[in-house]
Amino acid sequence: MATRPSAPAWLDVPVDANALAAGVWPDSAARDDDGRLVIAGVDAAELAARFGTPLYVTDEAQVRARAGRVLDAFGSAFAAVGASVAVYYAGKAFLSTEVARWVAEAGLNIDVCTGGELAVALAAGIDPARLGFHGNNKSIAEIERAVSVGVGTIVIDSRIEIDRVADAAARAGRVQAVRLRVNSGVHAHTHDFLATAHEDQKFGVPLDDAADLVATIRDRAELRFLGMHCHIGSQIFDAGGFAESASRLIAVHAELLTDGDVPELNLGGGFGIAYTAADEPTPIEQIAAGMAEAVGAACASHGIPVPRIAIEPGRYIVGPAGITLYEVGTVKPVEVDGGVRTYVSVDGGMSDNARPALYGADYTARIASRVTDAAPTLVRVAGKHCESGDIVVDADYLPGDVRPGDLLAVAATGAYCWSLASNYNHLGRPAVVAVRDGAARIIVRGETEADLLSRDAGIPLPTPAGTDALEGAR
Ligand code: LLP
Repeated sequence: MATRPSAPAWLDVPVDANALAAGVWPDSAARDDDGRLVIAGVDAAELAARFGTPLYVTDEAQVRARAGRVLDAFGSAFAAVGASVAVYYAGKAFLSTEVARWVAEAGLNIDVCTGGELAVALAAGIDPARLGFHGNNKSIAEIERAVSVGVGTIVIDSRIEIDRVADAAARAGRVQAVRLRVNSGVHAHTHDFLATAHEDQKFGVPLDDAADLVATIRDRAELRFLGMHCHIGSQIFDAGGFAESASRLIAVHAELLTDGDVPELNLGGGFGIAYTAADEPTPIEQIAAGMAEAVGAACASHGIPVPRIAIEPGRYIVGPAGITLYEVGTVKPVEVDGGVRTYVSVDGGMSDNARPALYGADYTARIASRVTDAAPTLVRVAGKHCESGDIVVDADYLPGDVRPGDLLAVAATGAYCWSLASNYNHLGRPAVVAVRDGAARIIVRGETEADLLSRDAGIPLPTPAGTDALEGAR
């Protein structure tokens, strides 16, 4: 076995480098009799042969189940303190019309934050009343469209937006329900949270300004104030930050009640998932219970009823259900720190998963096309882009005989991979395939070379009408 040059402290040498860690891989992931990876009864090698690589694969039943699990977890936790819960799926994690329908059928609403996300949700046939519209810089056109199609709620993110939304509602002859995004001063990341008086960030308004802004909202007859909204971060592993934030919000919520209705409190998303076997997110039921307890206690201490609660998970719903399949192209031992690091290069990279480059995110890789007894060796899975930071998996152990032609699977790529995908180096963005009950179908087509060339204005469009049509198209 190779030595461990620069292996991170959290990464253990696995007993079996073919093993699929529970909680990291989709629940349905298994090896068949030939050692091939199977997801929801579908052979990964067959998927690669049929649809090509790189390929995003998502386990439909697991997305649906996770949506249902969040609804149940929060529904029962908050029922214990006398409140109901609305769950909004944060579409930024991964939105296509199919996914929008899956989560809606599971009883979730959907949060969108651009006109594009709104368009997908509408194209999916989601009742606009079940949509929440976010964003720190919605354009006037986006606001007008959201109001006119009857979006359920708009989250006001700045003083300027109060008039923008109210004016759009006035023009449309509607009363628009709104939330106000505030910063609770609590910022959480994975294991710990930081609590400050004011956050230095672009989203929302300081909690101290909420009373004044809510009074301004209430002065506009075209707006109906629902409550405050707060999102404290993403990939959070326990309830502590949410609980702290909720109790700060409830103190202000109680003040707001003295001047009118405040039926709701939106506590945002951010529930973490496992990307590697070292990640141990608290089960969602415990997080929900911790949040409900904090909200219940804060409301009791202010002598107010517990408002209806809304939450907005994204990653939690879709992240663990997704994997990405790649083909190994080259394997290259590189001497580092007196040892050897094996670079395994695949046919995708930072264009289909920007998270390692953007956030230093860790992932888990396994050979999908076979199992082998070869001793585990430390690898770095790299992409094919012209950039040294083009890393797919910074560190993991694979069987030492990993070789060109192997199919490689990377776990937990269901959230913020397709959403953040790019065409860097003119790679087409991969297709997304949904697997369920032994069957696979494309839910987002992959981009072809023709797609890549189609927007290049230097290439004449294939039209007999010639230049005039060309000009019109551009
Ligand atoms: N609600 C609001 C207002 C948000 O801004 C976000 C995420 C969510 C809900 C959903 O958060 P989730 O449950 O998915 O953690 N690209 C980054 C994550 C950015 C999150 C942005 N906002 C990543 O890949 O880690």
